[in-house]
Amino acid sequence: MTRAVPLLAAIAALLPLASASCTREGLLAAAQTYISAITTGSLSPLHLATTNFTYHENNKAADLAKSALFTSGPLKLDLSRSTADTVACASYTIFISTAGTKPYVVSTQIRHPEGTDDVTGTISLIDTIVATKGDLFFDATKTLTLLKAENWGVVPEGNRTSRAELKRIGDAYLDMWTDAKAYATIEWWGDCERVEGSQFTKPCGVGLPKGGSAKSNGMRRYVIDETVGSVDILCSFDSISSIGPDSHETRVEGGKIKYVHTVTTMNRK
Ligand SMILES: *[C@@H]1O[C@H](CO)[C@@H](O)[C@H](O)[C@H]1NC(C)=O
Ligand SMILES: *[C@@H]1O[C@H](CO)[C@@H](O)[C@H](O)[C@H]1NC(C)=O
Repeated sequence: MTRAVPLLAAIAALLPLASASCTREGLLAAAQTYISAITTGSLSPLHLATTNFTYHENNKAADLAKSALFTSGPLKLDLSRSTADTVACASYTIFISTAGTKPYVVSTQIRHPEGTDDVTGTISLIDTIVATKGDLFFDATKTLTLLKAENWGVVPEGNRTSRAELKRIGDAYLDMWTDAKAYATIEWWGDCERVEGSQFTKPCGVGLPKGGSAKSNGMRRYVIDETVGSVDILCSFDSISSIGPDSHETRVEGGKIKYVHTVTTMNRK
């Protein structure tokens, strides 16, 4: 469907790097440098842009080196999984660390300037939601057990959902709190699973809101990977005032939701 006609391909070849899209391999390799940084407690595996690198933690600009993720020493990870968005030149990684006095469940989107995502490529933005004790339904050990049981393998070709539809489903999910009609625009597998922090709901479509909140969930940032049917949206969960920065990742198979994961912080004063 997206096959370029020869003329367009010829024009694209004449354009500078800005028109290049990123490769899956490069994006996943860069995501791996982030995992290496976390597990060694050092920023050196990361190729951060020397000018204009930005770090956001829980929706606020912050100093990466001073983040609790780096100042509390190397973290031992029990699980990590990454997806790649070759159009946006971005990746999404979730990791879980159950060891130590401060367990973590962390959702991170990494962005690259277009065309510079190879292994030595540059990271322009690390945008992360850090959940720990006290956050919504937080229990890293329980979350680990639930996530380990899921299948995030490649979705077979015939069962894949387009990028535009994945984005639509991700947005419709976040719109359920404010738009009474959003729920009915989403399809669900009868055995789909929802993991909100460590709270488990199956089938995942039950008990979800049909409007009611005045303020829409804002500041949405997307990482979309058609090969595994994933749309991750980092946002500010403004529809519920006690809830703060949040990540909602959905896996879609054959147009219907299979898994929903949330990593959600509470609004701290
Ligand atoms: C600096 O980084 C921000 C966030 O990634 C981006 O929106 C902006 O366009 C960048 N500015 C320049 C001059 O590259
Ligand atoms: C599509 O996914 C569903 C849900 O996992 C599965 O039941 C079905 O067999 C899959 N179909 C194909 C063609 O892979």
